[in-house]
Amino acid sequence: MTTNNLVYPKTLICVVGARPNFMKMAPIIRELKKFNNLITPYLVHTGQHYDQAMKDTFFQQLGIPEPDNDLGVGSGSHAVQAANIMLKFEPVLDEIKPFAVLVVGDVNSTIACGLVAVKKQIPLIHVEAGLRSYDREMPEEINRILTDQLSDLLLTTERSAADNLLKEGIAAERIQFAGNVMIDSLLTNCKQAVSINQTLQNYGCTQTIVESNYALLTLHRPSNVDDSETLVRLMEVISDVSFKLPIIFPVHPRTQQKISAAGLLTKLSPERVIMLPPVSYLEMLGLMQSAKLVLTDSGGLQEETTALGVPCITLRENTERPITVTEGTNTIVGTDPDKIMECVDEVLLNGGKSGRVPEYWDGDAAKRIVSEIISRYLPTE
Ligand code: UD1
Repeated sequence: MTTNNLVYPKTLICVVGARPNFMKMAPIIRELKKFNNLITPYLVHTGQHYDQAMKDTFFQQLGIPEPDNDLGVGSGSHAVQAANIMLKFEPVLDEIKPFAVLVVGDVNSTIACGLVAVKKQIPLIHVEAGLRSYDREMPEEINRILTDQLSDLLLTTERSAADNLLKEGIAAERIQFAGNVMIDSLLTNCKQAVSINQTLQNYGCTQTIVESNYALLTLHRPSNVDDSETLVRLMEVISDVSFKLPIIFPVHPRTQQKISAAGLLTKLSPERVIMLPPVSYLEMLGLMQSAKLVLTDSGGLQEETTALGVPCITLRENTERPITVTEGTNTIVGTDPDKIMECVDEVLLNGGKSGRVPEYWDGDAAKRIVSEIISRYLPTE
């Protein structure tokens, strides 16, 4: 299609790298495909996450097309990982010549690809911009601040994000409140969620668990699992909680390594704490949906539990997603065992926090994102 010498479609490079990126990108790709006369999405997977359980099942269940380019970088220190991504991403930009690069979230792939794009004068679009924990020990916080500074268009999930960006000197006209695209995926998929006992069976577990009578646990932040003192403290309180209600614990590979290396498996009763490998997206939705409560240090789960109305106890000292606390079901508890127990008891006794679903967490965030991209970058007259 040609309009006044403008030749369409133009290519938008979309980048994913790690598990939490996939559910954010799926609805965007789906929406972009509706405008194939204007835009061709070109999907790059950096390969930051590569295990079948951390990647392939997510692509299949979320209906994400095979990546056009898999950089296959794998794991490494932050420097090695980011450097490898940058080296491998640059020739892709040279070959594809996109009109912009779109990145989501706050993982190493987000900042590494963003930096390469901007150095080549290619506009960067950041989905989930402006979130701040104000904790610079968190690797993701550095990724967020830097990616936002580099971005040409900053799409936010909650209104407080714009205040953070404005304070950092980012011009108001580059910021657009689009809503939460991860909740688009949740709303599209929650009817297909796998039931809890089916999930247990899928992993060869013979126990049965009563719906709404278990806690779901996830743990993978370096501040919780890399520091052995904190990890021991957490495993002890998890064990105590498990005698109040059973716990289902899908274990991230880095957490599995740390628990095994520290010899902590014996701290948990296998009848009370059911440890699973990383589960698929639809299994995780099912585990969240019918949990009595969720204990987590994940960013995504804080938001998903708010959307589902399930009480969430966050095992961190802060959150970059404050709306989950002010409007949602989230309570920030940290890693103090007494506080964790107090909060669990409150949920068991009184049902815990009930919240409301925040503005624009309505399933239409991808529509708003794509419409904004078209109106900014693809003039038709
Ligand atoms: C990354 C993100 C984090 C996100 C998390 C979700 C950064 C800085 N962190 O953390 O924000 O919440 O993903 O999972 O980008 N590993 C495997 N198989 C895999 C991937 C990783 O075994 O497919 C193991 C490796 O030992 C690796 C370790 O997990 O060294 C950590 O992986 P990495 O990608 O560095 O960070 P995550 O902890 O997954």
